[in-house]
Amino acid sequence: MSPAPTGGHTTPRSGIAIIGTGSAVPKRRVTNADLEACMDTSDEWIVQRTGIRTRHIHDPQSGESTETLATDAARNALDAAGITADQLDLIVCGTMTPDMPTPSVANLLTASLGARTIPAFDLNAACSGFVYAMNTAHALMTTAPYSTALVLGVDCVTKFCKFSNLDRSSAVLFGDAGGACVLSATNDTSKGLIAQAMHSDGGGAKHLYIPTTTHSFLNPDDTDDGKLNTIVMNGRNVFKFAVSTFPELISQTLDKAGLVPEDIDHYICHQSNARILAAARERFSIPEEKFYINIERYGNTVGASVPLILDQQTRAGRVKPGDRVMFLAFGAGLTWASSLWQV
Ligand code: ACO
Repeated sequence: MSPAPTGGHTTPRSGIAIIGTGSAVPKRRVTNADLEACMDTSDEWIVQRTGIRTRHIHDPQSGESTETLATDAARNALDAAGITADQLDLIVCGTMTPDMPTPSVANLLTASLGARTIPAFDLNAACSGFVYAMNTAHALMTTAPYSTALVLGVDCVTKFCKFSNLDRSSAVLFGDAGGACVLSATNDTSKGLIAQAMHSDGGGAKHLYIPTTTHSFLNPDDTDDGKLNTIVMNGRNVFKFAVSTFPELISQTLDKAGLVPEDIDHYICHQSNARILAAARERFSIPEEKFYINIERYGNTVGASVPLILDQQTRAGRVKPGDRVMFLAFGAGLTWASSLWQV
């Protein structure tokens, strides 16, 4: 193992610990066979191209929404942390699918959880939202008087999928979920952010976007109103971008931290496609037990995928105090980001 990292981005006044995690998925579980019944696809095609077998899809009729998933995930995280919402000083929620443009999901959480009138806001970095939110919360906690923060990644992206042949190449990919963690200032300065990276390139916006008005088409050829509120994705371009970006992001983050791949105990990556993840893992010869994949059961849950795995691995006892955890994500925008923590 390398010596303690010296090249990190931040010098916190105190340590910051992840003291609780939580997650939530909708009740309804949809299999590839269920999708075969409503569009021209097959279990074989979906599994071979993506690794996905099932996903959870919210049911608005039963009241499930981005806000309810956020509330459930947050409550689980607060319970795990052993604190109540009135002890929070800050809420940052990464989401690209709030239930309405305003108020924000984080704002609604102050009421549904019973928090004080603390700063609470959403940020939109698509699938990179939770990783951006972790870095943002850490920066605020080290420069402003916020000791305890709730950080979330929550998305109900399937409200922008049409489960028919119109949208079969993206509808099979996605699922809904929420994940959260509680950060707390601690005197233990070994805990906290070691290094981070955040990137955004609007030049790639046409590869993946969701037009919501006839004025929001990025591609002037897409003028059909039937495409409104439906994901437009050039899967091949996103795939190529991700396959080259993930390894660069890992290298960049390790370089900033002065670490090598073996120094990291857990790689917790956005779950977009099992083939993209396998390519990154093999490039650095990372053992499978350090590089988690749960896309088979949940699909691509956008900003929720990283905190969902964090919660599952923490509750399973695999992420332990003192471990180094690298969070990695890429998404629409294009955006990509990392956040390396000693927990
Ligand atoms: N079932 C069966 N056939 C399908 C389906 C489907 N659901 N969807 C597309 N096809 C067909 C296509 O029509 C095409 O047929 P053709 O050759 O006769 O024209 C064929 O399958 C191949 O289509 P491609 O799009 O070229 O397939 P590809 O191998 O690229 O796989 C996929 C598509 C899975 C979408 C892949 O490109 C991918 O995973 N890309 C990354 C997507 C991603 O990660 N998006 C999320 C980004 S994160 C965010 O911010 C939301």
